[in-house]
Amino acid sequence: MIVESSLTETRSIVRAARQHGRSVGCIPTMGALHQGHVSLIEIARQQCDFVVVTIFVNPTQFGPNEDFTQYPRTLAADLEMCHAAGADLIFTPPVTTMYAGSAQTIVRVTKLAQVLEGAHRPGHFDGVSTVVAKLLNVTEPGRAYFGQKDFQQQLIVRQMCVDLDLPVEIITCPIIREADGLAMSSRNRYLSVVERKQASQLFQTLKLAENLAENSALPPPEIARQMLDYLKSVDGIDVQYAVIADALTLELLTDRSNSAVALLAVKVGSTRLIDNQILRFR
Ligand code: PAF
Repeated sequence: MIVESSLTETRSIVRAARQHGRSVGCIPTMGALHQGHVSLIEIARQQCDFVVVTIFVNPTQFGPNEDFTQYPRTLAADLEMCHAAGADLIFTPPVTTMYAGSAQTIVRVTKLAQVLEGAHRPGHFDGVSTVVAKLLNVTEPGRAYFGQKDFQQQLIVRQMCVDLDLPVEIITCPIIREADGLAMSSRNRYLSVVERKQASQLFQTLKLAENLAENSALPPPEIARQMLDYLKSVDGIDVQYAVIADALTLELLTDRSNSAVALLAVKVGSTRLIDNQILRFR
């Protein structure tokens, strides 16, 4: 496994692999890797000949009051996990490589990025789409892998690739959960023991939504109201949103449509967590 911080070196290593007829898969990450990331690398390993993992804590996707400086940086452990999962190349650029002081370009997806996470975290998705465009431009993969946990992010990245004619297939991989259902996230390590227990109620809320979708005739706004009531009843959870939206457009659903996703965002103490679940109406 090669570990590289130079952008031009990374580009030429990947190009050489492609020139040797190897298909390239890329997994963009911010490090602090967990089993969710490992599953992305393993899926890429099965589908591609050459697997690139990027590790870059991207400053432009953090708001001024968010956790950029505290975000966990665990490079040695990350590299071990990448190696064990079968990655071929790790690109770990410094901030100055990704953002020259003179940079003036932002990649902005409009409608999809304005709601939900976009409304609660102004500028967040500009940072995400800009850095993902740059990382895909450096690594030129045939496929790129994202977790379903960041549901809105994968939709935005798909839209960006279509709009910018980037020749990359976006693969969205299933959420990996802890035994009690909590979705794996690098931010889970911020949780105290008590908060960790409270956080497991996110999964219970999604199970409630799934159950109501499959076993009742309730319309989506009523299911969303029950999700909200459930979350509000849990001590220590501050709800930011709990909605049922169209799984392609993220417009809030009023009818029991075929393409639906329950999405929620909460704060547990000072830690912000998101989760989601695709719904199938009976
Ligand atoms: O999901 C993440 O870890 C980040 O948003 C990403 C896609 C690596 C961009 O910095």
